[in-house]
Amino acid sequence: MSKRIDVSDLNVYYGDFLAVEGVTMAVEARSVTAFIGPSGCGKSTFIRTLNRLHEVVPGTRVEGKVLLDGQDLYGPAVDPVVVRRQIGMVFQRPNPFPTMSLRDNVLAGIKLNNSRMRKSEADDVVERSLRGANLWNEAKDRLDTPGSGLSGGQQQRLCIARAIAVEPDVLLMDEPCSALDPISTLAIEDLIAELKENYTIVIVTHNMQQAARVSDRTAFFNIAGTGQPGKLIEMDDTTKIFTNPGEKATEDYVSGRFG
Ligand SMILES: Nc1ncnc2c1ncn2[C@@H]1O[C@H](COP(=O)(O)OP(=O)(O)O)[C@@H](O)[C@H]1O
Ligand SMILES: [Mg+2]
Repeated sequence: MSKRIDVSDLNVYYGDFLAVEGVTMAVEARSVTAFIGPSGCGKSTFIRTLNRLHEVVPGTRVEGKVLLDGQDLYGPAVDPVVVRRQIGMVFQRPNPFPTMSLRDNVLAGIKLNNSRMRKSEADDVVERSLRGANLWNEAKDRLDTPGSGLSGGQQQRLCIARAIAVEPDVLLMDEPCSALDPISTLAIEDLIAELKENYTIVIVTHNMQQAARVSDRTAFFNIAGTGQPGKLIEMDDTTKIFTNPGEKATEDYVSGRFG
């Protein structure tokens, strides 16, 4: 569990449109990395290439390399379904299966991968994952009720439980709190701090305070103008990015002068 990611010279295209250009970065294991930058600079596009999720959009393609502990995720023999099991994703809108029970939501990814699990084994996975997502106490007496019955913040923690149930190495989160109230947001931030012990975490956020609170490293992306590709401007320790960044554009962005 918990692996490093090394990206080199990554370009991402939608058809002919170069959306993200020339990203090289290292993401350490057992750390939290925040991606920040103005809308449209390619944060979502780029984070999806880290588990090949962009491939669900027809016409997308990448150039460059993404390595997970040295293994090339785009190698010819690599199955994208296996990659997505190793590298899970949590989205902006909590997306539990609404009519499925809490228990079946947690097990959804596992059942795709291993339908022959014994009941006692499944019970263990459900409890471990819900505990890991700080949802066990709220969920344990209603495991057979539908996912849609939870609050937004609880639904997001359920999605995190579903993501960690398959024991991934990396968790990607694309603005996981932007649809949540402040209390639920803090609950997710606390959870991220705990999950870091076991997982490599990458989080896209529009919230500067959140990036400063939860992340060890911060990557600032920017775009020169409409139709231009998004680029990684700089990546550094989060305290450095927020107090003494190397680039003027980073300073302007983190101090709220644009974006
Ligand atoms: N499915 C898509 N098809 C074509 N272009 C897309 C698609 N998704 C995003 N883009 C374009 O890629 C660029 C980066 O978008 P996105 O990754 O969503 O940025 P961010 O997450 O930083 O706001 C934008 O110009 C956007 O319009
Ligand atoms: Mg986005």
